Amino acid sequence: MDHSKLRVNGKRLQSTLEQMAKIGGTPGGGVQRLTLSDEDKQARDLFVKWLKEIDCEITIDEMGNIFGRRAGRNNALAPVMSGSHIDSQPKGGRFDGILGVMGALEVMRTLHENKVQTERPMVIVDWTNEEGSRFAPAMVGSGVWAGALKLDWVYDRKDIAGKRLEDELARIGYKGTAPCRNFPVHGYYEFHIEQGPMLERQKKLIGAPKGILCLHWYDIYLTGEANQVGPTPMEGRHDALVATAEMILKVRELPGRMGGNMVATVGEIQNYPNSRNIIPDRVHFTVDIRSWDDDLALRAWDLLHTDCEDIAARHGCPIKIEETWRVSHSPFDEKLVQRVLDAADELGYSNMPWVSGAGHDASYTNHVCPTAMIFVPSIGGRSHVEIENTRWEDCEAGCNVLLHCLLKAAMEK
Ligand code: GLV
Ligand code: MN
Ligand code: MN
Repeated sequence: MDHSKLRVNGKRLQSTLEQMAKIGGTPGGGVQRLTLSDEDKQARDLFVKWLKEIDCEITIDEMGNIFGRRAGRNNALAPVMSGSHIDSQPKGGRFDGILGVMGALEVMRTLHENKVQTERPMVIVDWTNEEGSRFAPAMVGSGVWAGALKLDWVYDRKDIAGKRLEDELARIGYKGTAPCRNFPVHGYYEFHIEQGPMLERQKKLIGAPKGILCLHWYDIYLTGEANQVGPTPMEGRHDALVATAEMILKVRELPGRMGGNMVATVGEIQNYPNSRNIIPDRVHFTVDIRSWDDDLALRAWDLLHTDCEDIAARHGCPIKIEETWRVSHSPFDEKLVQRVLDAADELGYSNMPWVSGAGHDASYTNHVCPTAMIFVPSIGGRSHVEIENTRWEDCEAGCNVLLHCLLKAAMEK
């Protein structure tokens, strides 16, 4: 058979994604499928059922990563792997992550129905907790698999209600027994929406990121002094929220101060006791710093750290700072990136090299095996929102690029 003529079934991919979007579907048209929630379990169960239908061998490891393996002619060879994540943000969209898992499934279904036998085995993967919004940090499934994070440390991460990650993994029935450790992989391709505006602005269909920015996460805790807001004079207050407000503005100023392609964000804040007539005595907030230049991001943190200490001292609010997580910037394998661009050319799709500001499990797989990603446009450049959207025909096009990248790699002896 002439494999160059093979194409995925765009309608089937659409219907698969639509079925998944019902699990945790929100009234605003997005999804809420927080990691290790009942919705995550339901979506995992459906994914496993679909894998079995195409005769994949299922392995679930200690981190709950799900691997579906399709045999090749020579199963002694390292497999080609593709996947992403099923979990979502609290008010997330219908494409982030799930497109890469269902895209890889659509590729396998296409090979299955066309009875294509590849030289190497192929593996689809759903990585546990890519988002990191319920349990920080993000990308822990791939992080432990790649040997960059310690299993016990990850197991002990707690959500806002104090539930442990390991316990929640067991509760939903996905604490597997296979050791979570990397195995030889011939190449990993992750298919994803861009989550930014550049493909749309440049009027290109396919993006091939040269890599992913570094991601540095910090958690800052402030203690103030609670009091009745009416009788307490403005002078001499120890208002943990006002101190936080000054710190947030310092975060906002950081990229301008540092130059380069840095972004810095405070996205989460907890204020206690959170009553309009009590001076706040406890605040927790997060800082996210990203850049292609790891040193620049570290220098930015040094400045911010000093600023936060100074502000805290001025307000008389003791501060505790946790350096929660750092992933260095991840330059992908040039040969694989070029293969994405070439596959797009061969299929007649416009394309461009790009860079990923969003974090992906590909950052960690890149530590242990050649890695690349395939991006398709996000309408209006919106993501991590309920209205996140990508045209169905663009999903199909990206999936065809994935098919041909995987096929080429899987045919290599
Ligand atoms: C992951 O979704 C991230 O970029 O934070
Ligand atoms: Mn994602
Ligand atoms: Mn995401």
